[in-house]
Amino acid sequence: MSARRLLKELAWKATAASLKTRNILDWPAWAANLFEIKLPSNTIVNEKTSSSGGANINVILDLMNECKSIPGDIAECGVYRGSTLISMALYVQQIGSEKKVFGFDSFQGFDDHVESDLNLGGQFDQQKRRGGFGNTSRSFVQKRLDILDLNHVELVSGFFEKSLEKFSERQYSFVHLDCDIYESYHTCLNYLYPRLSGGGIMLLDEYDDPPWPGCNLAVDEFLTEHSVDLHPIVRDGHRKFYLRRDAWREVSGPQANPDA
Ligand SMILES: C[S@@+](CC[C@H](N)C(=O)[O-])C[C@H]1O[C@@H](n2cnc3c(N)ncnc32)[C@H](O)[C@@H]1O
Repeated sequence: MSARRLLKELAWKATAASLKTRNILDWPAWAANLFEIKLPSNTIVNEKTSSSGGANINVILDLMNECKSIPGDIAECGVYRGSTLISMALYVQQIGSEKKVFGFDSFQGFDDHVESDLNLGGQFDQQKRRGGFGNTSRSFVQKRLDILDLNHVELVSGFFEKSLEKFSERQYSFVHLDCDIYESYHTCLNYLYPRLSGGGIMLLDEYDDPPWPGCNLAVDEFLTEHSVDLHPIVRDGHRKFYLRRDAWREVSGPQANPDA
């Protein structure tokens, strides 16, 4: 291991030991840079409300808080280097919840499906290419989970088209879709929405985000095919959208048998 890497791991361990018991809302902004995680203390506030840009941790934590009494685990589709997943896992641990947190990602970036998104147009984004978001690895994310004692997290490597099936029996109370492209949104919506508990929430990070029109296409198709409403939420000038599973479906809908 290089000296730089060793120093970084020592800094991670020392900081983890001193911050682990503190509420994530009180973690200092410098810890966000050290661990490469999103924290309320380092959120950039937009002067004008907009849906462009990355995930907003305050939106995520507010919606997770709304779902905390709903049965079912937590999932994120699109982990990349773990900056939202780790914060979500810290929150779950700190509220004393028994929920498991699943992090689904190829950990090698986009596959060829990104080509159809390039054909859809939208704003330029340097990650919108085969292998975009590939500068990560499962072990990079796992290392920080270990240092922070986040043992309730399971990283699931592989493309969603295959990896989601490994947990077909699971139900979820909160799902964060942060996977950018049409095919990925299409797969996750159709596989995971039926596995949401009644009242559970699915947050859609790229809806109305100019570089990623494939998200709108997949979500709008889904809304047309199912009677589901899209809800906006605004925090810090960041507008995001989410779906909530109707509670009545808990007894009468396909939730009892999601594959029906
Ligand atoms: C925008 S990044 C996620 C950002 C992350 N939530 C964060 O906090 O930084 C999108 C991720 O989705 C993953 N992804 C997109 N489509 C995928 C698919 N079909 N299967 C597996 N991973 C996919 C990419 O590998 C990439 O890591």
